[in-house]
Amino acid sequence: MRSRPNRRAVLTSSGKAKFPRAARLILLSTIVLVGTGAVLAVGQGMNLFVPRYQEFSDPLGRFANLNLGGPTDIANNAFFQDLGTNGRRCVTCHQASDAWSVTPPHIQARFNDTHGTDPIFRTNDGSGCPTQDVSTEDARRQAYSLILNKGLIRIEQTLPANAEFTVLNNDNPYGCTSLTAISSYRRPLPSTNLPYLSTVMWDGRETFKDANGHFIPVIDDLRHQATDATLGHAQAAVPPTAAQVQSILDFEIKVFTAQTSDLQAGELNQAGAKGGTGSLSTQDFFIGINDPLGGNPKGTAFNPVIFSLFDRWAHIQDRDFDEHTLARRAVAHGQQLFNSLPIAITGVAGLNDVLNQTVINGFCGTCHDSPNVGDHSVPAPLNIGLADLSRRTPDLPLITVSCNATGKIVQVSDMGRAMVTGKCADIGKFKGPILRGLGGRAPYFHNGSAATLLEVVNFYNTRFLLNLSDSDKSDLVAFLSTL
Ligand code: HEC
Ligand code: HEC
Repeated sequence: MRSRPNRRAVLTSSGKAKFPRAARLILLSTIVLVGTGAVLAVGQGMNLFVPRYQEFSDPLGRFANLNLGGPTDIANNAFFQDLGTNGRRCVTCHQASDAWSVTPPHIQARFNDTHGTDPIFRTNDGSGCPTQDVSTEDARRQAYSLILNKGLIRIEQTLPANAEFTVLNNDNPYGCTSLTAISSYRRPLPSTNLPYLSTVMWDGRETFKDANGHFIPVIDDLRHQATDATLGHAQAAVPPTAAQVQSILDFEIKVFTAQTSDLQAGELNQAGAKGGTGSLSTQDFFIGINDPLGGNPKGTAFNPVIFSLFDRWAHIQDRDFDEHTLARRAVAHGQQLFNSLPIAITGVAGLNDVLNQTVINGFCGTCHDSPNVGDHSVPAPLNIGLADLSRRTPDLPLITVSCNATGKIVQVSDMGRAMVTGKCADIGKFKGPILRGLGGRAPYFHNGSAATLLEVVNFYNTRFLLNLSDSDKSDLVAFLSTL
């Protein structure tokens, strides 16, 4: 399936990918209707190239990966190579067919195909705790329950030396109960759309400042991240070479992922819409591009209108009515809700406390402010309450800490940013992630607690008392599904 160079997609000035007629036929043949074989293929020698453009089906339609540096020969790129000691590669947890994350149905298929011996099933961070029994297939199904059910990977962090809190109890269902080396369980963030990141990792632990206190370029954060991932997830004995790290970066930084077709709304770049990877890959971005708190380096004021991809679908005339029109109007209305629904933001550490305002009159975009991408454009992890005791499920730990200065007791399922900074104020804080290519990578949130986009919307509806009608919820979901 090697794409020929003369048939590559051409990015036009409008940012739309255009394909010559012959190439379109080839594209159709590369629309892989994903079975388990395709999932395993990349990285295990069956698919030798990551094409320049490839589409995959997902529960909501299809998404696309645009690989601007491609076709990429996986035999020659370190992202796909075994650089460690446990058989893991970057691609083990970042799969093309899962929008460059990795999803439970495909993880389960890998378990079934290999009786739980695929390299993703390793005790260093794939099981609930390294001490669990993995000697039989049944034991492995138990030990790997979190990754099988929710796609969660164990992240172990040592209590920072300067921690402002004391861990009183660590109730961990898998036996990792240490009070100094704390285990958290998190979704693999997608290794795509990376030029739009302000913050690397859920807790920003791979986002660094230089000696003058300025954030270093994200590309350098990603170099550091690739090295740590090789030493950690892949248990390499030695760090990857500079050339290997460069090879990983050369690949991952040029990959863009977006939904491209919706079961109801049809092709997402038709009738004036700008969905899909073409326009995404040319989106303008810089750190602070639309910061609501005055952090835009150009001084431009915050604009709550974050997404403009489906503006034209708000104005489809009745004379142009076809089988997609109702669904397209719903998507446009969902976009409008994202851009303008008033949200009274309360109790969010990182916002309300920083501004010293009990209520901030905000929008979805107050925290998802990057235009047409949706992540937080500055490194500023927030606590929206997902790790709170009230939302803890029995499959996650319950960590009880006491803040030394105040004696305040806090209970969470994940300490979040506090394990990086040691600050009580950072307990339960996570970054606002990129909102593109959502359809191919459920479940959502750092702990996979929302199985569907409707569950995401229901969380916000409850958390911020939005009082959304069923039809507004459904339109918001229709919109998020097209990103
Ligand atoms: C065992 C599974 C696993 C492997 C192998 C793995 N990752 Fe990840 N990756 C994750 C998880 C889990 C996270 C999120 C962890 C967190 O934020 O605490 C992540 C996060 C990332 C991110 C951050 C994206 C963002 O939005 O901040 C990048 C980039 C990334 N991985 C690239 C890589 C590269 C490159 C390699 C190979 C060197 C690799 N990963 C290997 C599981 C894995
Ligand atoms: C007060 C800040 C804030 C507001 C307002 C907000 N979000 Fe979020 N959002 C976040 C943070 C922080 C996360 C990551 C939370 C986590 O996983 O711990 C997140 C995560 C998400 C995710 C999951 C993405 C993924 O990859 O798992 C979606 C989808 C999302 N938000 C959509 C919305 C929508 C839709 C709205 C408006 C109804 C909204 N958000 C309003 C801060 C916010």
